[in-house]
Amino acid sequence: MERPSGEGVRHDLANGPLGVVVIGAGDLGSRHAQHWHAAGARVVAVCDPWLERAREVAALVGAEAATHPGAHLSRDDVHVVSVCTPTFLHESYTVAAIEAGKHVLCEKPAALTVSAAERMKAAAELHDRELRLGLMRRFDPAHHEILRRHALLGGPTLAQATIVAGLRPKRMMHDARGNGGPVIDMCCHLFDLWRVIFDGQPESVSAHGYTFAEGRSELASIEEKALDSALFTLTYPGGRVGQVQISWGLPSGVQYIERHSYVGPDGLLIVNWNNGMSLYRGPHPEHWDAPEHDAWRAQIAQFYRELTEGAPRQVATIDDGIDALRISLAVLRSVAERREVRLDEELERIPPLEPEVLG
Ligand SMILES: NC(=O)c1ccc[n+]([C@@H]2O[C@H](COP(=O)([O-])OP(=O)(O)OC[C@H]3O[C@@H](n4cnc5c(N)ncnc54)[C@H](O)[C@@H]3O)[C@@H](O)[C@H]2O)c1
Repeated sequence: MERPSGEGVRHDLANGPLGVVVIGAGDLGSRHAQHWHAAGARVVAVCDPWLERAREVAALVGAEAATHPGAHLSRDDVHVVSVCTPTFLHESYTVAAIEAGKHVLCEKPAALTVSAAERMKAAAELHDRELRLGLMRRFDPAHHEILRRHALLGGPTLAQATIVAGLRPKRMMHDARGNGGPVIDMCCHLFDLWRVIFDGQPESVSAHGYTFAEGRSELASIEEKALDSALFTLTYPGGRVGQVQISWGLPSGVQYIERHSYVGPDGLLIVNWNNGMSLYRGPHPEHWDAPEHDAWRAQIAQFYRELTEGAPRQVATIDDGIDALRISLAVLRSVAERREVRLDEELERIPPLEPEVLG
């Protein structure tokens, strides 16, 4: 449901501060709690079954700690819930919060299946609540600098991204039923950027993939490991293409590396995410160094302004999250079925992962 900014959801600060409950007190929960606090909201409670963690984060912002959000969701002084749990829990907490009449900022990715994300969206529509997703790279200066420079390359452009890292220290990130692996967990950021660059969703996906970490002792406890490595091509309207190489299956400790390149008739843009980028349009490259910046903080400050001042909507919507998830699921289906997959196919569930055999 699209509505004009702020209409029907604006919180009047004359009635007291914007009250927030944070669910999940891990890395993202800690960020959300501190950024809501810094934005001017009152963090009422931080909830995590791991009570010690909830207490540590709650103490940072003067909130209560709880193992379960239950009673806090019905409080009149709570207006927003930040869902910062592992992804497989996003739907249940988001729907519970919305049914209790709260707005939700849910961490990305939206969910592991389209139907779960659609149920989250349906709840938000039924109860007329804001449901936004933490695609916070929209608030990273690099995102805007890429868009600005990309516009100087002429068209059509060819895009390429390489994103690699050693095994992620959080096992949930390798669990197909937890956070879903990098094609779901990480690529949503890239898809959100390329939706702007290519002015729409891809039409089809052609992918190959592997689980490099299959058999690694560090992941032995995971019953269904997510695909951790893939090479895929996205075809956008007009025949424009983007190609992605992603892996979280390198040896533990290998640092995170993300590079993009965009080439068009008028130039080349090479991006080293987190460091900067170089634009080649003549003999002398133009360099841009990435400044220190906290995109999570900027995102929450923006959502706070949207909810309290009616600022224009910039924080990602559940529809943006569903768009990204559909591409991820198309990639996984393409790997599993070894064929090109169209985005207009039924993409509800993650197909059984049968990546190509190595070697
Ligand atoms: N925006 C981004 O770029 C970004 C970056 C990292 C993670 N994330 C997303 O944020 C979410 C959380 O990731 P994280 O890195 O903070 O993970 P984390 O492991 O650091 O924290 C998750 C927390 O959730 C808690 N938890 C587990 N079960 C729970 C339950 N039933 N109820 C409430 N809490 C529960 C855990 O105890 C843990 O404290 C994931 O969906 C992840 O994909 C987003």
